[in-house]
Amino acid sequence: MNEIAGLTGFQSLRCSQLLAQHKANAKRGIGGIGLARKKTDHPSQQRIPFAIWLMPKERILVVEDEGGYRDYLAAQLEEKGFAVRTAPDGRVALDLFTEEEFDLVLLDLRLPGMDGLEVLKHFKNLSVETQIVMMTAYGLVQSAVEAIKRGAFDYITKETLTPETLNLTVLKALEQRRLKRENERLRAEVRRKYTFENIIGKSRAMREVFQKVQRIASFKSTVLIYGESGTGKEMIAKAIHLNSPLRNHAFVTVNCGAIPETLLESELFGHIKGSFTGAFRTKKGLFEEADGGTIFLDEIGELPLGLQVKLLRVLQEHTIRRIGDTSEIAIDVRVIAATSRDLLRDVRDGRFREDLFYRLNIIPILLPPLRERPEDIPLLVQHFLRKHAGEGSVGDIASEAMQLLLQYSWPGNVRELENIVERAVVLSDSHSITPQVLPAELKHAGQEFQVHVPEDCLSIKRTLKTLVPAIERELIQRALERTGNNRTRAAKLLEISHRSLLYKLKEMNG
Ligand SMILES: Nc1ncnc2c1ncn2[C@@H]1O[C@H](COP(=O)(O)OP(=O)(O)OP(=O)(O)O)[C@@H](O)[C@H]1O
Ligand SMILES: [Mg+2]
Repeated sequence: MNEIAGLTGFQSLRCSQLLAQHKANAKRGIGGIGLARKKTDHPSQQRIPFAIWLMPKERILVVEDEGGYRDYLAAQLEEKGFAVRTAPDGRVALDLFTEEEFDLVLLDLRLPGMDGLEVLKHFKNLSVETQIVMMTAYGLVQSAVEAIKRGAFDYITKETLTPETLNLTVLKALEQRRLKRENERLRAEVRRKYTFENIIGKSRAMREVFQKVQRIASFKSTVLIYGESGTGKEMIAKAIHLNSPLRNHAFVTVNCGAIPETLLESELFGHIKGSFTGAFRTKKGLFEEADGGTIFLDEIGELPLGLQVKLLRVLQEHTIRRIGDTSEIAIDVRVIAATSRDLLRDVRDGRFREDLFYRLNIIPILLPPLRERPEDIPLLVQHFLRKHAGEGSVGDIASEAMQLLLQYSWPGNVRELENIVERAVVLSDSHSITPQVLPAELKHAGQEFQVHVPEDCLSIKRTLKTLVPAIERELIQRALERTGNNRTRAAKLLEISHRSLLYKLKEMNG
């Protein structure tokens, strides 16, 4: 039964079954027919390409004391395919309302006993979702307006009501309820995406980040997120916003490095018409768009010095001034900034204002690079496998492939890992990810090292004199690690004699 009435379980039915079902459902207020692709894994059940489901009818409650008019409305609405219940007064209406869920109520303003406004108040306490349309006699419009202020969707005047206006009002109210529900569903989906369960990490550093984020989300203090590219700065910023009291307001992202300097000021603060060549219209800036919510200033280290002063003023005064305007506009936004640069070094080098740095750095959050938290890699891989592999396709990863992921240096951090897993899922023709579907650079990882050449020395002779022993030391350590400290085998791997190895070890250990 449920599989037919609901939208989730699809089932193919013979026609006779369907008709019987339809009759039974009609009594229970379920009707309408739709087509759906059949969803089943079992090949024997895939013969019929689609199934039929029945959509629930929308339910309307009519509250009206005058019997004839009540029956007239009910008949009109039933004819349009709605499931209708009726009540002659507020008390009966409230009983019905607590027992059943209605999409819409048509509520008379003048009722015996409890009047329409009073009933409306109870309905609103019981359900915020049900739409209420008031019905009023001509001359009582003032009370209907009062009802709208208290949460009714609309009103209709009985004397002038035609079947068409009734139908239009009802459809409009129901459409608005659908939009509200859809909006709420989408918001919940976004919230789920940025709930902490979807931000993965068990390393100590990441656990500290989660704790901090949870603690600070409910405050409006400025946050500064540090992290290399792809470490999850934007993800954390959105999680802070969506777990804060501002979650139902805007989250506006500005990439300070991507907008040309000449445009950035107008983007941030807006401008008034005629304030510069090309300013044809007055335009709101992103700070105003974010009013009441959060503004995320990404790559804050790229902000030109001139604008740094203006941002500082915004943070101190909580006001902005559009370009060309003389008056200030008060704004109330939470600022979250992010940077992949060493801002303190920029302060020392005079590229970033010290006063602004301290204004932003109120709550610093440090996202460590992925290479410093390899223990997060297996969890992230599982997470991205679930995200990118549909049900029944690639489900896990071979241990040799995981080994390669663990020893790679991840210059692009979590974003690079996600891209690699997504690519591997597409390329895999088995249930498990193997080294063959991983990019070549991963396979060479661990076979090469990075050489850090001192910046202030260009002499080849002197540089080699310090680098060669460092490289030797690194190679010897790796050979010993790989052979479990077996010096004979390590010497073989290094392609030197056993005696040379002993000599070099002695030198290394002083
Ligand atoms: N801890 C994590 N758990 C799950 N997914 C993550 C995590 N960290 C990052 N990601 C994912 O990695 C990708 C990159 O994250 P994000 O855009 O937040 O990084 P970023 O630090 O802002 O990068 P950039 O500096 O390049 O803009 C996103 O798809 C995000 O969902
Ligand atoms: Mg980013």
